[in-house]
Amino acid sequence: MTDQSNPLPFDSFMNPSLGKYTKIYRDSIENPEKFYEDAGWVLDWYSKWETIIDRTGEPYYRWYVNGKLNISYNAVDRHANGPRRNKAAYIWVDEKGNEKIVTYRGLYRRVNALAKALLEMGVKKGDRIAIYMPMIIEEPVAMLASARIGAVFTVIFSGFGAEAIADRINDCGAKLVITADGGYRRGKFIPLKETVDKALEHTKTVESVIVVKHTGQPVSMTEGRDYWYSDVINDKEEVEPERMDSNDPLFILYTSGTTGKPKGVVHGTGGYGVWVANTMKWAFDPQETDRWWCAADIGWITGHSYIVFAPLILGLTSIIYEGSLDYPGPDQVWKIISYYEVDILYTSPTAIRSLMKYGDEYPKSHNLSSLRVLGSVGEPINPVAWEWYYEKIGNSQCPIIDTYWQTETGGFVISPVTGIGTTLLKPGSATLPLPGIDPVILKQDGGEAAPGEKGLLFLRKPWPGMMIGLNNDDKKYRTLYFGRGKDGYYTGDYAIKDKDGYYWLLGRADEVLKVSGHRIGTVEVEDALLSTGLVAEAGVFGKPHQIKGESIVSFVVLKSDSRMEPSVDAIKEKVRQKFGPLLVPDEVHIVGSLPKTRSGKIMRRIIKAVYQNDIPGDLTTLESEASVDEIKEAIDKFRNEMDGN
Ligand code: PRX
Repeated sequence: MTDQSNPLPFDSFMNPSLGKYTKIYRDSIENPEKFYEDAGWVLDWYSKWETIIDRTGEPYYRWYVNGKLNISYNAVDRHANGPRRNKAAYIWVDEKGNEKIVTYRGLYRRVNALAKALLEMGVKKGDRIAIYMPMIIEEPVAMLASARIGAVFTVIFSGFGAEAIADRINDCGAKLVITADGGYRRGKFIPLKETVDKALEHTKTVESVIVVKHTGQPVSMTEGRDYWYSDVINDKEEVEPERMDSNDPLFILYTSGTTGKPKGVVHGTGGYGVWVANTMKWAFDPQETDRWWCAADIGWITGHSYIVFAPLILGLTSIIYEGSLDYPGPDQVWKIISYYEVDILYTSPTAIRSLMKYGDEYPKSHNLSSLRVLGSVGEPINPVAWEWYYEKIGNSQCPIIDTYWQTETGGFVISPVTGIGTTLLKPGSATLPLPGIDPVILKQDGGEAAPGEKGLLFLRKPWPGMMIGLNNDDKKYRTLYFGRGKDGYYTGDYAIKDKDGYYWLLGRADEVLKVSGHRIGTVEVEDALLSTGLVAEAGVFGKPHQIKGESIVSFVVLKSDSRMEPSVDAIKEKVRQKFGPLLVPDEVHIVGSLPKTRSGKIMRRIIKAVYQNDIPGDLTTLESEASVDEIKEAIDKFRNEMDGN
C-alpha cells in the first residue's frame, strides 16, 4: 500500500525550497502569458512569435503562434558553433563495451550530411519518413536530419514486427525508411533490415530505404530502392535549416489506445521544444558537466523527448546504450554508471524491480557515488522499489524524480522539481504538477473527487508540449481526449490527490495495459491474435505482475476450419512474427466459447473476474453462461499444469 501520510524530509538537498516552486506555479497559472513568454526563450527563434497561444480551434491549441525556428538548429548548431563544440553530445556504449563518442561538432557534421542526402533523395518539407533502428547514434541523427529539412519523422520501436511497421507506414504515408542491417540485444542479432523488407511488401508509399551498416551481417539490398547510409552521405555537406513554423509537425509517434489500431500522436515544433527543455530543467536540474543517462528506448516518447530533444537543446552529454541493463551480467547498468561517472539515471520501475531481484551485492560492488539524481518513468513505482532505488542506488542521497506523463503530453506533467524547489518526496507519488499544469480528479459523475478519493485525472489547461493532433483522426482526438468539454484533457488514468495536494497515479482507467512500462491496448492484442488466422475470437486483459507491472492474459476460441488444432506456442509464435515480441500474450488459454453480450460483444470484464476468482457480477446480459464454466475449466487445467511443473 502507498503511504500517503509519511513524507520524507528532503529539504537538506532540495534547494531552493518549496516556497519558490509555489510562487512559480502560481504565476504560471495566474499569468500564463508572462510565464510562457519567459519559458519560450529556452530556444532560439528566427523570428519571434506574435502570441503565446491561439485557442480559436479548441480543443486544438497552437503555441508561440507564427514563431519561426528549427529544432535541429537548437539542438545542434548553436552548440556546434560555440564553446560546446568539442563537448560530447553522446557517449554510445553497447553490451560488449564498445564505445563511440560524438561531439556537438561531430553531430552537426552527421546531421548535415544526412539532411543533404535526404534532400537529394527527393524528401521535401512535410514529407513523412519512418525510422526503424537500433539504439545507435544514427538514430538521433536521422530524427534531427529529418527535422532540419522540415520532414516529419515517425520512429517505430525496433521491437515491432513487419505488420506493425507496415500499419504505421501506411497510416502516415512514409516515403523513405531509415534502418540498419540489424542490432543486438542480450547478445542476440535482431534482423531489422529483413523485417523492413517484409513490411514493405505491404506498403505502397516507400520509395527508398537507407541502411546503416551497424552489425556487418549480410542483408539483401533491393536495387534502386535500398542504399547504404555510407554511400549516400558526404561529411562535407551543409544544409541550411528549414525555417519551420512553431506549429508545423515535428514527428508522429504511434501509441496504443482503447481501439485496435495505434493512434498517430502528432507533436509540433515550438511548443514541444519549449516544453521538453524546460521540464527537464525543472525536474532534474541538470548541470553543464553532467552525464545524463535516460535508459529508455528512442522508439518511445521518453527517448524522443529526453534522449534526443531536451538534452540536446540544453547542450548536455547523454549516454546512449544499445542493449539490456542486465546483460551480459546483472551488474551491467552499475558498471556503466561507475565507468562513465553518470550523474543522473532515468529509468523505469520495471527495470528497477528486475535489478532489485538480483540482490544488493551487484550495485554494492560498483562505485555509484557520481549519482546525484535518480528518475523513474512509465508506470507507477511501488514504494518498495522506490525505497530500494533511493537507498541502495542513491545511497539515501539522491532524490527520486518520479515523472508522470504520456506520449500525448510530450513531456512531464506531474513530477518533483529539483530545479525550482520542492521539499518533500513521498515514495510512490509523482508529487506535484509542473508549472502550467492544472490537474483535477473527477468522479464518473463529473464531480470533483475529495482528497484521498480515487477518480479520473484530467488536465484542465492546455500546455505547450501537448500533442497538436492525431494523424488523420480528428474524431478520436476530440472524443477520446476532450469529450468532457470544460474538464479539459482526459489522461485515461486513475489518480488520487492526497490532503497535501500530492498526486498518486493508480494506473489506466481504460483498456490500456502497461507491460514493463510499454503501453499496449487489449484490443490491439486481440486483433493481433485474430490476424494469426488461427483464432476466431479473443478476449485479453492484464493481470498484476511482480516485475513487469502487468502481464497479458488471453482467452481464445480457435477457428473451426483450421485443419490441425494449433498449439498455444504456435499462436504465440505467429503473433511474434507478425507484430514483434511486445504483443505476445504471456498466457493463451484455448476455450470453446467466450462470454458475450447478446449483441455479440466479448465481455473481458467477466473473463477477468472469473480468472481472478471474483464473483463476475451481473450475468444477465450474457448470451450464454456456459462459456463462464469453460473459462473456469481452462483456468483449473492451466493452474494444475503449473502446479505439476
Ligand atoms: O498510465 C500512465 C503511465 O504511462 C501512461 C503513458 O504511457 P506512454 O504514453 O507510453 O508514456 C510513457 C512514458 C511517459 C500513462 O497514462 N505512466 C507514465 N509515467 C508514470 C505513469 N504512471 C504512474 N507514474 C508515472 N510516473
